[in-house]
Amino acid sequence: MNPSISQLDASGRLRHLLTLEGLLRERILALLDRAEDLRAQSRGGTRRLDLLAGCTIVNLFFEPSTRTRTSFDLAAQRLGAQVINFDIARSSTVKGETLLDTVHTLEAMHADAFVVRHKESGTPEYIARHLRSGAAVLNAGDGSHAHPTQGLLDVLTLRQHRADFENLRVVICGDIRHSRVARSDVHALGALGMRDIRLCAPPELAPAPGDFPQCGIFHDFDAAIAGADVAIMLRLQKERMQAAAIPSEAEYFQRYGLSAQRLRHAAPDCLVMHPGPINRGVEIASDVADGPQSLILEQVANGVFVRMAALAELLAARN
Ligand code: NCD
Repeated sequence: MNPSISQLDASGRLRHLLTLEGLLRERILALLDRAEDLRAQSRGGTRRLDLLAGCTIVNLFFEPSTRTRTSFDLAAQRLGAQVINFDIARSSTVKGETLLDTVHTLEAMHADAFVVRHKESGTPEYIARHLRSGAAVLNAGDGSHAHPTQGLLDVLTLRQHRADFENLRVVICGDIRHSRVARSDVHALGALGMRDIRLCAPPELAPAPGDFPQCGIFHDFDAAIAGADVAIMLRLQKERMQAAAIPSEAEYFQRYGLSAQRLRHAAPDCLVMHPGPINRGVEIASDVADGPQSLILEQVANGVFVRMAALAELLAARN
């Protein structure tokens, strides 16, 4: 799905971050470089910068989140901005106020950016289309559509370990059909030149036909992981499944879980990634998640700097 409004302004500057689809390699690399630069400037996040002093950023999370919401919050604070974490459960949303009325209400109090997570694909784009001010919208995950900052932090983390993107073999395994992370990862990896991207899922969780034309589609994880340099594991997104689309968790782990024994079929130094939250013993074994090849907590740490870079890119020039 392409957003029907452009995330770029007339002079080609990024004014919203809704998807990585269609973003040029140069722009993605510039965001990764900016994230590294902000990490250095903020001394790993221990020194507060004032790049966004005076800005107000509203976190609008209509779905649960631990990593993404906290890291957007920290990113904004570490750039000197004021952050409002909109509390849906205690808001007038429960009294029946519509999404747009809520957004316009918050806009009337002045907000420079809305960070939006929603179960419906396309909601951040919908909000961006109906804003009355010049506020920016950052997509923090919409349905199964996109999760652009996750895609960016995943390639940033990978780039810190491997430079030879063109030659890397990546397998993304799990609930591909419902995964906005898989979609944004494929866009980011593809933009950086990765050619061998394998998507592995049980048939009932495989991507819709024609989706991901640039990737190899697998149903056999042992075949997909053979010789892989990177394994990105995904959670079963039961909240997006119609009915019991998969067998038991034990059977799922048997066929699609990343165990230490299965990891031996990958390249010897295969990197293991997962966007979190992880379900130990379902898609990944504990000893692999906590093992020496796992980058899971590095991904989390990089999430803050990537979100600082995205906020700075969208707001610093206006500030
Ligand atoms: C993911 C999400 O919400 O899309 N998590 C995240 O943002 N780190 C993946 C998931 O929920 O499984």
